[in-house]
Amino acid sequence: MSAIKIDGRAYAEGLRDRVKTAVSTLPGQPSLAVVLVGEDPASQVYVGSKVKFTKECGMRSVEHKLPANTSEDEVVAIVRALNADPEVDGILVQLPLPKGLNSDRVIEEIHPDKDVDGLTEASAGRLSLGKPGLRPCTPTGCVMLAKDQLGDLTGKHCVVLGRSILVGKPAALLFLEQNCTVTIVHSRTKNIEEVCRGADILVPAVGRPQMVKADWIKPGACVIDVGINRVPSIKNPGKTRLVGDADYKSVRSVAGSLTPVPGGVGPMTIACLLRNTVIAACARRKWDTPTGLDF
Ligand code: GUN
Repeated sequence: MSAIKIDGRAYAEGLRDRVKTAVSTLPGQPSLAVVLVGEDPASQVYVGSKVKFTKECGMRSVEHKLPANTSEDEVVAIVRALNADPEVDGILVQLPLPKGLNSDRVIEEIHPDKDVDGLTEASAGRLSLGKPGLRPCTPTGCVMLAKDQLGDLTGKHCVVLGRSILVGKPAALLFLEQNCTVTIVHSRTKNIEEVCRGADILVPAVGRPQMVKADWIKPGACVIDVGINRVPSIKNPGKTRLVGDADYKSVRSVAGSLTPVPGGVGPMTIACLLRNTVIAACARRKWDTPTGLDF
C-alpha cells in the first residue's frame, strides 16, 4: 500500500483563486504591507513570492525593503506608520530579522487588527481563548489540508510533534478548535514513537530531517509534514535537496495520506496569508466577509 500524496500546491492554488474571486466582490482593494530588513536570500525569495501573489489576487502590495543596518527604532517607526495608515490592511514583518534586532519587540508593535501572520500576543491570546482573531498561517494550512483529506476532524487523535511558538503550539490549538483530541510531543516526551503511533493525524514540526519513520505511524494515518530541511543530495554530490521531518519513502508505506516536501504544507503559508489579509480588511473596514474562504 502506498499513501495518498496530499497536493498542497494544488490546494494552495485553489485557495488563491478563491481569494482572488473574493477580492473581486469587495467594495475596495485590500492591501498587504511587507517589511523586509537585510539581504537574507531565503527571505528575499519568500517576500518576492508574497508580493507576486498579493498582486495576482488583485490586492495592493506595499513593500518596505530596508538595509541590514537599520535600527530597531527605525523598523518600529515603520510598523507604527503602517498601523496608522488607513489604506493598509495587513502588516507582515519577515522573520528572521538581522542579528541585533529584537523581533519580539517589533512584532508586538503590529496592531492586532493588521496582524495577518497571527504572531502578536493578542492574536495568540485570542486563539488560546477560542475568540475570533487572525490565526497563524502555516498551522492554518495544516488544518486545511487535514480537513480536505479527512473531512470532519471531530474526535480524531492529532499528535503534534514540536512545541514551537510559530507552528507547534498554534497548530495544537487549531486542531483542538476542530474538536480533535490533541497531544503535543517534544524532546522531553517519554515514548515519543509510541505516542505518535496513536495518532490519526500526525503533524511533525521539529526541523529534524527524516526523523519520523514508518514504525512511528498508525496504519492509514494522515501525516501533515511541516518540516523543510535542506540536506546534501546523494544523487548529485555537492548539491542539496529539501526533505521533511518525515522519512517520506518509509512513511508512505504505512500512512493513509501524506504531504510531500516540497509541495505540501509549504505553499499553504502564503495562500493563508492572502486569505488573512482579506479577512483583516473586511473586519477593519466593516465590509461583509465574502463567501468561499471557509475550510
Ligand atoms: N519567515 C519564514 N516564514 C515566515 C512567516 O510565515 N512569516 C514571517 N513573518 N516570517 C517568516
